[in-house]
Amino acid sequence: MIAAIGAVSENGMIGLDGWLPWDIPEELAYFEATVAGAALVIGRLTYESMVFVPPESVIVTSRTDLFLKPGCLAVDSVKKALLIASATGKDVFVIGGATLYAAAWPYCQRFYLTRIERSFHGDSRFPDDIPLAQWAIISDEKKTYLERKTGQSVVCRFMQYQQPRPRALPGIDC
Ligand SMILES: NC(=O)c1ccc[n+]([C@@H]2O[C@H](COP(=O)([O-])OP(=O)(O)OC[C@H]3O[C@@H](n4cnc5c(N)ncnc54)[C@H](OP(=O)(O)O)[C@@H]3O)[C@@H](O)[C@H]2O)c1
Repeated sequence: MIAAIGAVSENGMIGLDGWLPWDIPEELAYFEATVAGAALVIGRLTYESMVFVPPESVIVTSRTDLFLKPGCLAVDSVKKALLIASATGKDVFVIGGATLYAAAWPYCQRFYLTRIERSFHGDSRFPDDIPLAQWAIISDEKKTYLERKTGQSVVCRFMQYQQPRPRALPGIDC
């Protein structure tokens, strides 16, 4: 399965200063548990923001001199990254950022999207043109957590969308 995973605020933000606009440890824990054991496809900026990057992660970059953490691989296109990650035989998760979601969504069977039901200041937006409204909602669960930066409670809506007809990668069945 090829899936994407991310979290977005009410006003469409996903990032601030190279990290997340919010501090919600439980949401981060959900992300980590969901992608555990999968092959990850990661944009270069998101990769550089991560302390731990699991082996068999594929980084998308045009740079040829990127420092690679153990077991990671760099490629210069999203399609190549998806093919290499799929070839591991593991589930594949596209974990962002915005440029990766924008390029990879046609190939994704699922989008695990946490909707954080509050506006946050940010500098990186979730792409507007992913047609999630036309995808089936297969899971939708609300939980309330403390957001550490504001000290206020926030509702996180854990949603899973399924794309009706994801685009096939050459040689890969959807
Ligand atoms: N809320 C969430 O769930 C979530 C998830 C992930 C990330 N984020 C946040 O999102 C922000 C980063 O997102 P972003 O969109 O700015 O950056 P990004 O997608 O992480 O990385 C962008 C970089 O990826 C490479 N790239 C992307 N498409 C490419 C292509 N088709 N061919 C070759 N290289 C390609 C380029 O690297 P080069 O410049 O090296 O060529 C580009 O500069 C951060 O704030 C991060 O914390 C949030």
